[in-house]
Amino acid sequence: MIQLIRGFKDILPGEVELWQKIENTARTLFEDFGFSEIRIPIMEKTELFSRSIGEETDIVQKEMYTFPDRKGDLVTLRPEATASIVRSYIQHKMYAGDPVRKLYVIGPMFRRERPQKGRYRQFYQIDVEILGVASPLIDVQLIFMLVKLFSLLRVKNTLPHINSLGCPDCRPGFKADLAVFLSDRIDKLCKDCVRRSTKNPLRVLDCKVPACQEAIAGAPSILDKLCTPCRDDFETVKTMLEQMDIEFVVNPRLVRGLDYYNRTTFEIQTGDLGAQNAVAGGGRYDGLVQTLGGPDHPATGFAIGFDRLVEVSGFRPQDLIRSPDLYIATLGEKSQSIAFKWHCEMSLKGIRSEMGFQKRSLKSQMKRAGKLGVDYVLIVGDEELNEGAVLIRNMKTKEQSKVVINEVVDHINNLMRR
Ligand code: HAM
Repeated sequence: MIQLIRGFKDILPGEVELWQKIENTARTLFEDFGFSEIRIPIMEKTELFSRSIGEETDIVQKEMYTFPDRKGDLVTLRPEATASIVRSYIQHKMYAGDPVRKLYVIGPMFRRERPQKGRYRQFYQIDVEILGVASPLIDVQLIFMLVKLFSLLRVKNTLPHINSLGCPDCRPGFKADLAVFLSDRIDKLCKDCVRRSTKNPLRVLDCKVPACQEAIAGAPSILDKLCTPCRDDFETVKTMLEQMDIEFVVNPRLVRGLDYYNRTTFEIQTGDLGAQNAVAGGGRYDGLVQTLGGPDHPATGFAIGFDRLVEVSGFRPQDLIRSPDLYIATLGEKSQSIAFKWHCEMSLKGIRSEMGFQKRSLKSQMKRAGKLGVDYVLIVGDEELNEGAVLIRNMKTKEQSKVVINEVVDHINNLMRR
């Protein structure tokens, strides 16, 4: 038997109802905040991701599904949505007229990470981006929207972590200080961090290996090195979050795994997911539009790990599953064709009916109706039809009554609306 690929999964009926609930709640909320959906391809030129996410990041170094297409051009299954959205913003000159664009994407992403609980190779993101606004208030709005979405989905035990990663004026100084600090402790760092300590020292700060965390206990904080504009910007974010009663922690070790960020970055972390504790992450990436060949427009955004949100939502799929309203039991060929027409008509009126298409005894059809958990069974027999009526049975009270055949659909419709 051919099984699915490791790290990939099916989302089955019975689970998918929760995914739909989350998706619908997110769409409604984002659209109320003025966002529009954009649909972007699942595959892009590899260069788009390596240039935006960064050559030295784990994603680009070891996690992308990259392969030559039949002509030999390197293509990649998207590991995230931000780069594609920026490409699209530039390619379609979405900034012409009004530079402000508020966009969202919901869909699958691909990273070849080691699968574990909360970490998949095909996972889903709910991604939100605002292009063309420099004000830190918009970062606050994104965090506000995230917190609001999580509360609508009954997620508990989450907290936004925020940090500033500075800008090209102040970050290089911090990077240099950090590299010196790390070089004194190089023998205590894991293999990955030894490489990172020269190429991308910031990433050492959020390494999950306990020995690395111990080794960098006294590392300098980027927040002490911010230039005045970056510091003012971050102060505004903090003050506004407080004014909006949004709880948060400042976490100077939060550096994120993608290189395009500057200034405010954030993650929503939860205590309910074990090691994969980030349910959402994002931040400002003011230089990316220009890096990818567009105008010098600022941008900011976040992505929610949809699979992780499903895990921590207070809704359970079983509360959302819609079971059939009615079962139609038929006894004879004539009754089956008449019942079939009713079955289709009822669907158009929003009544979910099920019927059997094989010849089965009334007893076995009633058994199936019981398993489906319907409230009513319509019993359609050839004999009854000859008399111009069918039977409707209330499965809870066990009461049966007759309904004349040309009133069946209306009668059931009224019954359902009660
Ligand atoms: P990211 O932190 O790489 O950011 O991913 C965002 C979220 O996607 C994570 O917090 C996590 O919940 C989820 N996620 C990531 N990898 C996996 C995985 N292998 N399995 C399950 N869930 C996963 C970005 O992708 C940025 N593009 C976010 C952003 C948008 N920044 C600005 N705009």
